Amino acid sequence: MTTRYRVEYALKTHRRDQLIEWIKGLLAVPFVLNAQPATPYDGDHQDKLDKMAASARQRYADVFRDVEALVDDHIAHQITRSRSKLSMLVPTISAFFTPLYLEEAFLRQDTARAISSRRFVAPSFNDIRLVLNTAQLLAIMAPKSSSIDVVNGTSESQLQLLTFDGDVTLYEDGASLHSPEANPVINRLLYFLSKGVRIAIVTAAGYTQPKNYFDRLSGLLVAVKDSTTLTPEQKQNLVVMGGESNYLLVFDDAEEYCLRYIHRRNWILDVMYTWTEEAIQSLLDIAEAAFESCIRTLHLKAKVLRKERAVGIYAADQSIKLNREQLEETVLVVQSVVEASLTSTPKPAHSHIPFTVFNGGADVFLDVGDKSLGVQACQKWFGGIGPSSTLHVGDQFLSGGGNDFKARSACCCAWIASPTETVALLDEMISFEIKK
Ligand code: IMP
Ligand code: MG
Repeated sequence: MTTRYRVEYALKTHRRDQLIEWIKGLLAVPFVLNAQPATPYDGDHQDKLDKMAASARQRYADVFRDVEALVDDHIAHQITRSRSKLSMLVPTISAFFTPLYLEEAFLRQDTARAISSRRFVAPSFNDIRLVLNTAQLLAIMAPKSSSIDVVNGTSESQLQLLTFDGDVTLYEDGASLHSPEANPVINRLLYFLSKGVRIAIVTAAGYTQPKNYFDRLSGLLVAVKDSTTLTPEQKQNLVVMGGESNYLLVFDDAEEYCLRYIHRRNWILDVMYTWTEEAIQSLLDIAEAAFESCIRTLHLKAKVLRKERAVGIYAADQSIKLNREQLEETVLVVQSVVEASLTSTPKPAHSHIPFTVFNGGADVFLDVGDKSLGVQACQKWFGGIGPSSTLHVGDQFLSGGGNDFKARSACCCAWIASPTETVALLDEMISFEIKK
């Protein structure tokens, strides 16, 4: 008989990250064995608490060192295309483009967050997410490449392209970038541009008109335009990829809204040439019908919005928000309806077109294409930047319902939970660079 636990686990996998859950499980054992919940938090017992923390720190670090070795082994198997131990332990694991310096990252995060001093709260999802981010940043900003490592400690940063999601990553959901005073992320972006790093905002928001993007990004675009320190070439290193992978716009201060729309024929990836209008409309028709059925079945007070390369729903009355359960159910229904359509014979016209269905917090959209293609198109636009030199920063990395998740197959990723965390992440990157 299937237990209730199994049913709940199966139904909730779209809201879990398997790698993080697995690491959480590994850390739970040293937590339980080391934690001293009965020891009072007072000066008399400080020695005992310090000893407990030191022991937990050592054991957690051991776990992260072992996982780091498993990631190295996984990378070796990627080259030989054979099955790694890590992929047996975490079947959903995908490719890594750099090693992850997990032990060092844990020690840094432990110093900042006192994870190993806690007696009641085990290492959490957020603790592990932040350790993974730091491990990724270290590997990109301060890579240890065998011979250089031995002589100099670390080699040069290999970062060439930074890509960012928009909502929740650069600004609050539905908000905009107004000014460097209101949005501290703007000055960090200018810093990376001044270092020659390319920046792409890879957002689901899909518009053909530069003005629509200007409305969301004006603070950044005006700051770049007004900058007297950035060279014209560095300014052109800022681009926007809208609609996941559908619209490319490049910074251009001669334009009214500081962005120049680039015709598709000048940037699309080879795989996109086969996306005929007929195939795209076939995909959007199926999805639109699925959204309509969700509105009927779940009694949603929502309207459908059909666009050139997307279809979605949003609250009909802005004062009555769609709740999380409604949004998640709609994502999973639309996803499964479109997937089911791919198995029909003859194959539908859209069978070769990648798509993204995601929960935008207040709306659900199906977009033609995905952020993996969006990031790859930016890599191509900048002359062929590799996955190990690209970092995507986003908030939606759950396998079901997150649109940043797809970027994982194109580059290294950092998973943030708010615009404040994005600023902290960029400051951490800058500190690694200065350290060298
Ligand atoms: P992101 O977080 O930057 O990827 O932006 C996602 C948000 O953009 C969604 O939640 C929508 O509110 C908005 N949006 C506007 N147009 C589109 C579209 O064509 N597809 C998907 N999302 C869109
Ligand atoms: Mg987002």
